[in-house]
Amino acid sequence: MAKLTVKIPEHEYDVHIGDQAYDLLTTVYGDQLKKADQICIIADEKVADLHLDKLTNAIQTLGVKFFVKVVPPGEACKTSSVFFDCHSFLLQNHFTRNSLLLAFGGGACGDLTGFVAATFMRGIAYIQCPTTILAHDSAVGGKTAINMPEGKNMVGSFHQPAAVLFHTPILETLPPREIRSGMAELLKHALISDGAWSEELLDNKQFVSPSVEWLSVELIKGIQVKAKIVEEDQFEHSSRKFLNFGHTFGHGVEAVCGFGGLSHGECVMIGMAFSLILSERHGLQPIGLADRLIGFAQRCSYTFKPIHENSFGSFLDYMKKDKKSTYGDLNFVLLQEIGHPYVKSVSEEECKIVFEELKNRTGADRNDG
Ligand SMILES: NC(=O)c1ccc[n+]([C@@H]2O[C@H](COP(=O)([O-])OP(=O)(O)OC[C@H]3O[C@@H](n4cnc5c(N)ncnc54)[C@H](O)[C@@H]3O)[C@@H](O)[C@H]2O)c1
Ligand SMILES: [Zn+2]
Repeated sequence: MAKLTVKIPEHEYDVHIGDQAYDLLTTVYGDQLKKADQICIIADEKVADLHLDKLTNAIQTLGVKFFVKVVPPGEACKTSSVFFDCHSFLLQNHFTRNSLLLAFGGGACGDLTGFVAATFMRGIAYIQCPTTILAHDSAVGGKTAINMPEGKNMVGSFHQPAAVLFHTPILETLPPREIRSGMAELLKHALISDGAWSEELLDNKQFVSPSVEWLSVELIKGIQVKAKIVEEDQFEHSSRKFLNFGHTFGHGVEAVCGFGGLSHGECVMIGMAFSLILSERHGLQPIGLADRLIGFAQRCSYTFKPIHENSFGSFLDYMKKDKKSTYGDLNFVLLQEIGHPYVKSVSEEECKIVFEELKNRTGADRNDG
């Protein structure tokens, strides 16, 4: 079991990762759970079908009263109707300000539960129990949100969890697409922070079929990067923006593919290739990193199909709506070199040139995604 502490002003919490994470619910967190008047597990439906007993077995030994609210799997739970349905469920079951929520699922369920916790009776405590590789990113840092028909993550807040319990054996049931998704975010953490680690990942044959043991070590490194940045800049005024590496264009791809055609990280991989070509135009060293990433991504079954099947204009429309763009500019996180990110505002014309370049360089894409 590994442990890492996230230290932000007025709130410190631990992230635990390993094969006995849920045992901590009865030991380290036993008192906190017993003090809560009621507990509700908000569980992703698919994850509940596969793994709910692992969590409930642990809680049952404490003898505290708990409820389970099952929500639709994945992104489908981040809607206003599911959000209010959760609030009604809590109210009808007499939850109070002293109640506690557990988020049991991937980043989507974590974002929803975090936002329910942030808003129920003006804010109650919650514990993240993430079940995807990607959630090493989303479960740490306290960003919570739901989607609106107008855009992704448009309504939300910052609300830090009381703890994060990452039970790694649960990752064994992840489908390949979700593994690719999470591993892309892990690579993002490496590229914005550490040359040697990035090299290791780009050379690693386990990348898309990682063992749980290897993942336990790698995810801690990813969480360290995220935690350090969140500690420096909780509310995204400066360095937290670096976590958006690959996301400006990636979010555009995600929106054009209809929030579900491709997983989040698969879109981020396309976005990172876009950002690296852009970085090369602004002096990225060493030259060739963009092609290396593209070759690596294609070997690992990431697809670039969406950019060959949609016009630049369709991506541009979404990028302009992104809440991180300021009026008239498109802001990208670029790399000076691996481990040295910076934010650059880029014209639409240059984005169009880079889009065409990315199409040329990924012309041999044969992956069906
Ligand atoms: N809050 C943040 O800082 C932050 C950061 C990054 C991403 N996010 C959000 O995270 C979401 C994506 O999260 P995600 O990639 O974890 O995916 P997800 O939560 O959408 O889950 C993806 C799919 O995997 C299934 N699943 C989850 N765990 C499983 C398991 N152990 N075995 C089998 N199937 C499992 C789910 O049912 C779902 O079908 C997006 O909504 C994104 O906006 C938030
Ligand atoms: Zn992301």
